[in-house]
Amino acid sequence: MCGIVGAAARRDVVDTLISGLKALEYRGYDSAGVALLTDKGLERQRTKGKVRDLEALLGTAPLAGFTGIAHTRWATHGAPNTTNAHPVASRDTIAVVHNGIIENHESLRAELQAAGYEFATQTDTEVIAHLIEQAHARGMDLLAAVRHVIPRLHGAFAIAVISRNEPGRVVGTRRGSPLVVGLADGEQFLASDIHALLPVTRRFIYLAEGDVADVKIDSVAIYDEAGAPADRPVKQAHFSADAVERGEFRHYMLKEIHEQPQAIADTLEGRLSGSHILTEIFGVGAKELLSRTRAVQIIACGTSFHAGLVARYWIEGLAKLPCNVEIASEYRYRECVVQPDTLFVSISQSGETADTLAALKSAKAKGYLATLAVCNVPESSIVRESDLSLMTRAGPEIGVASTKAFTTQLAALSLLALELARHHGIDPQRYEALVRQLQTLPGAVNAALALDGEIRQLAERFVSKQHALFLGRGTQFPIAMEGALKLKEISYIHAEAYAAGELKHGPLALVDEEMPVIAVAPNDHLLEKLKSNIEEVRARGGELYVLADADVAQHMPHANGKMITLPPCGELIAPAVFTVPLQLLAYHVAVLRGTDVDQPRNLAKSVTVE
Ligand code: G6P
Repeated sequence: MCGIVGAAARRDVVDTLISGLKALEYRGYDSAGVALLTDKGLERQRTKGKVRDLEALLGTAPLAGFTGIAHTRWATHGAPNTTNAHPVASRDTIAVVHNGIIENHESLRAELQAAGYEFATQTDTEVIAHLIEQAHARGMDLLAAVRHVIPRLHGAFAIAVISRNEPGRVVGTRRGSPLVVGLADGEQFLASDIHALLPVTRRFIYLAEGDVADVKIDSVAIYDEAGAPADRPVKQAHFSADAVERGEFRHYMLKEIHEQPQAIADTLEGRLSGSHILTEIFGVGAKELLSRTRAVQIIACGTSFHAGLVARYWIEGLAKLPCNVEIASEYRYRECVVQPDTLFVSISQSGETADTLAALKSAKAKGYLATLAVCNVPESSIVRESDLSLMTRAGPEIGVASTKAFTTQLAALSLLALELARHHGIDPQRYEALVRQLQTLPGAVNAALALDGEIRQLAERFVSKQHALFLGRGTQFPIAMEGALKLKEISYIHAEAYAAGELKHGPLALVDEEMPVIAVAPNDHLLEKLKSNIEEVRARGGELYVLADADVAQHMPHANGKMITLPPCGELIAPAVFTVPLQLLAYHVAVLRGTDVDQPRNLAKSVTVE
């Protein structure tokens, strides 16, 4: 989704703005642009396409300035073309970059047109530029003009604005979309996420909802929603710019797949003592809340939703608590019945997904016992809005297709399920055995990574396919869904997942020699059932690929495609372990098909609009 970078310094900031945009490319976008205060006034360069296209443009028509804003746009209102690319300007005086959506832009546009403003773009953003220019022209300085305009804007936004009349100043504000201030000596910055600024600073202020930041070369002042000066804490970023480099790997996705053993180990570290989980890891008051919990409602989107679906099996199976899992965009607009003492759990890698955040906010008025976030970004909106949180420690995930975020979510959710189970009467010996099993997860994932070469060969069989079917039962059904999602996201092959028992109720009609069927078959209590489903496919001549534990592979029906054997592992950790070959499969198929693995077409990493 869109990215913002802004800078005020005593040096030319073009390189900082461009490197910031590059660091935000992973979010997904389709045009890019920059606006600077130069010795000629306010100048812009914008282009459809990638940041490298913008760089090429700046190579032929250079710009230089000490104050500037830059943007990567993921089109919502208006086509992804150069005209609609940000920064959007008003009367050569004001330039604005904007993430989010202004819902009342049509009425504002009509009002501004009546006041004589001509619109150059189809964007909702242009109303912001003109409204600020209007206030500015009436004598308000940039800060006052932005504050004057904010109450007129309905919707979710983060913006950064510069004025030709005020060099050395960038004003930013946020409502519903993230924005951070980066602090350095004699130069200050704004960005939609800290990755953009890691080469220039590690010191950040995370703006709170409704905050306005007045960013100048030597100072930063923050005002809260009511306009009062606000003292926000300065946070130190834990990771360096290196953490977001690809290193020896060809793609971020491959790097992130290989980081999983460490990321999972980091997620478990300090959270277990011997063979029990430390309740304190969920936050203050968690012990009492988890004991009071009588039911769990999970909401999430995309890959995080699949992690939630796995967690349901654990929460109902181990803690014996009813657990409902729902896609956030559905939940938020549905009238739902909340049972007493229900714990609301949101799962999100970014912590900024608009639908998940909105669902969380709406849940707060519905009488839940408490809200708990399972999230990868500590300062994110979802964590800040939640009563309790459990951080996954995957580190920055850059590839749009989520990998290490997912398996660390599974690790964190198994901690939650086991902790709930401990409060709700699980047999202590079983509990301890499962905690010990969880500790083996990083090693088991590492062992699964050794299949890389074999999966790369297998991928060749998928290159020319149009469709694929993924089958699983129990906790492996959501893993099959995740495998199908990975394949369609990055290789653009149509893939569907089915609960294996459902095969005969429809999808079996699709099975012929052309249809690859991938069955996820760990050694669990559903294995015998799954074997029958595999037979159903085999009997129809389907091209069958079975992922199975080494223990059971030899007893499997002979696959007329291929059998991939994984090292044996326990039932609790099997979902994360069996995810790895599916991630690798999607990755290698996409590479062979020549798609943009890290930034697949039309998709965004962090979906901060509805
Ligand atoms: C986007 C990403 C997915 C992600 C989903 C939810 O669609 O492309 O990879 O699973 O958003 O994101 P979240 O940050 O809330 O986990």
